[in-house]
Amino acid sequence: MALEPLNLTDGKQSDEDKKIQEDLQKSGSVPDHIAIIMDGNGRWAQKKGNIRLHGHKAGVESVRDVTESCAQLGVKYLTLYAFSTENWNRPSSEINGLMKLLVQALRNEADRLNRNDIKLITIGQIERLPAKCQRQLQEVKELTKDNSRMQLCLALSYSGRWDITEAVKHIAHDVQMGDLNPEKIDDQLISSYLSTAAIPDPDLIIRTSGEYRISNFLLWQLAYSELYITETYWPDFRRDELYDGIRSFQKRDRRYGKVRNGHNKSLSATVINQIIS
Ligand code: FPP
Repeated sequence: MALEPLNLTDGKQSDEDKKIQEDLQKSGSVPDHIAIIMDGNGRWAQKKGNIRLHGHKAGVESVRDVTESCAQLGVKYLTLYAFSTENWNRPSSEINGLMKLLVQALRNEADRLNRNDIKLITIGQIERLPAKCQRQLQEVKELTKDNSRMQLCLALSYSGRWDITEAVKHIAHDVQMGDLNPEKIDDQLISSYLSTAAIPDPDLIIRTSGEYRISNFLLWQLAYSELYITETYWPDFRRDELYDGIRSFQKRDRRYGKVRNGHNKSLSATVINQIIS
């Protein structure tokens, strides 16, 4: 599919921005999968004396800018925590507003996502969302199903514990039916039963608004993700901060529990005994 310049945001990409992206691509690896806990919409609005929904509305602009810049940079998967299982406990007016915003954003962006070769996928209990929302999601998923530049994964009515619980239920079922030998259960098998089975674990998790917690996000999948936390509220989070997050990621030494290269000299039993005695 021929790619037209991305135009999810209204402006044309500046030469300066192109240069920053080229530099980022040269300075290290761009994460394949970025997952974002978009936080601080409510506080952003309240700080301005507005009701919380204004913050969610402004947050949609950040979603567009970050989606666009991730695709331009060559990120393959972008997962956005748009609505958690716990968010159902918010006032119904806020939930309704959020669902309407989601439907509106999906309607507005469907064509542009498609023209730019971005595939929409979801994780979470989609069946709990209002029917209109489900229909709109289905429509955009269908429209974009063959796209391959980047997958935009919306986590909706999602929680990490829900994901793991569902996987455990399915594993137990398959064991009970005799389709799965319990001895075969390992890391990879568990991953394959999660809602994210078709996508790799996130390389980088970004959280906005300065909270140092994971909030029931991709609990299993984040085992080796790098974390980047910024004080910025989500509606103010734009590509420049995304670039900061990626620069920080590029400086990390991802060891996956191993030792740094060059620090793996083997020790004789005598040396070990001398050190620990
Ligand atoms: C967290 O801020 C944000 C959310 C729960 C919703 C995020 C939704 C959007 C940005 C809009 C729609 C999304 C898409 C994908 C089009 P908060 O309300 O928890 O803020 P607070 O911590 O300041 O209260």
